[in-house]
Amino acid sequence: MYNDKKVGVIGLGKYLPENRLTNKDLEKIVDTTDEWIRARTGIKERRIAGDGEATSDMAVSAAKKALEDARLKPKDIDLIIVATITPDMFFPSTACVVQNKLGVDHVPALDISVACSGFIYGIAIAEQFIKSGRYKHVLLIAAEKMSSVTDWKDRATCVLMGDGAGAAVLGEVKDGGILSVYLGADGSKGELLKMPAGGSKLPASVSTVEGRLHFLKMQGNELFRHAVKIMAEAALKATEPLGLKGDDISLVIPHQANVRILNAVAKRMGIDPAKKVYLNIDKYGNMSAASSAVALAEAVEEGRVKKGDIILLDAFGAGLTWGAIVIKW
Ligand code: ACO
Repeated sequence: MYNDKKVGVIGLGKYLPENRLTNKDLEKIVDTTDEWIRARTGIKERRIAGDGEATSDMAVSAAKKALEDARLKPKDIDLIIVATITPDMFFPSTACVVQNKLGVDHVPALDISVACSGFIYGIAIAEQFIKSGRYKHVLLIAAEKMSSVTDWKDRATCVLMGDGAGAAVLGEVKDGGILSVYLGADGSKGELLKMPAGGSKLPASVSTVEGRLHFLKMQGNELFRHAVKIMAEAALKATEPLGLKGDDISLVIPHQANVRILNAVAKRMGIDPAKKVYLNIDKYGNMSAASSAVALAEAVEEGRVKKGDIILLDAFGAGLTWGAIVIKW
């Protein structure tokens, strides 16, 4: 690292839409059961954004709470990053829409498309801008309206996803902060999870709509295998250089894709999942990038993270992408 500046999270916020979609509700839409969904994923319900509610609306609500938590005003922010794979539209970026809604013209703003690992990648980017001295405060928002790319006729995927947003303000801290960052990607496995149409390769047409190609397609089984292996490896890559073992970690706050993945990862790390893995997948399902952000905000809100604690964020998603970050709180 090029200087001793410590960078940490100085404010957190979250927003979840009011509307709850339970497993029982899904039983009326597709051929599934509450028992199957709970046993295979750990999900009981998820939140679904309103028709007129865009990703940027959820992002702004979460951002305002994070700013309040950091005791900052929108004008104190030097850079806005939005991690999302469900932007309001292709362009302008959702970050620019958020910037306008926050009333802070001229602040640089960009989206990053990293799927479920977006919050981790965003922290890594923010850390560098702050460490270099370029910016003082970075507003990072992870927001997803997964319901907008969900095929409500595909029982293999529609039971998994939910909508929501989490936000963090990053800045210099006196003690602790980000201790290590590990990021990775493997584009050769991009086929495992994608939305095939709507981009330059397959622009929207009557046939793409009829072919249901504007929805998320997933090879769940194959992804499951990679997720367990890669999340466990990422955790090691982030903790080993610091000499940390499972016992030294106060709490793992993972991306919430499937409770079975998280239990398997914890086991590989020698961590008791019941005590040291934060879970809220039962309430929200998989919110892609927003999952880790909301989980961190809730873990702190619930007093599960205390000053001096060593926490591990660990995520994996489409791309494939992955990342793990160790933070001393
Ligand atoms: N209800 C009832 N049965 C179902 C459902 C459902 N909702 N969905 C699938 N099934 C059936 C299948 O048809 C299959 O039936 P068959 O045996 O008769 O063929 C059976 O259940 C088993 O299906 P699998 O796909 O093998 O089930 P699995 O145990 O793998 O669970 C799941 C599926 C939950 C998707 C799991 O594979 C998973 O969590 N994968 C990883 C997801 C992930 O990590 N994604 C990356 C992050 S997401 C992002 O980046 C946006």
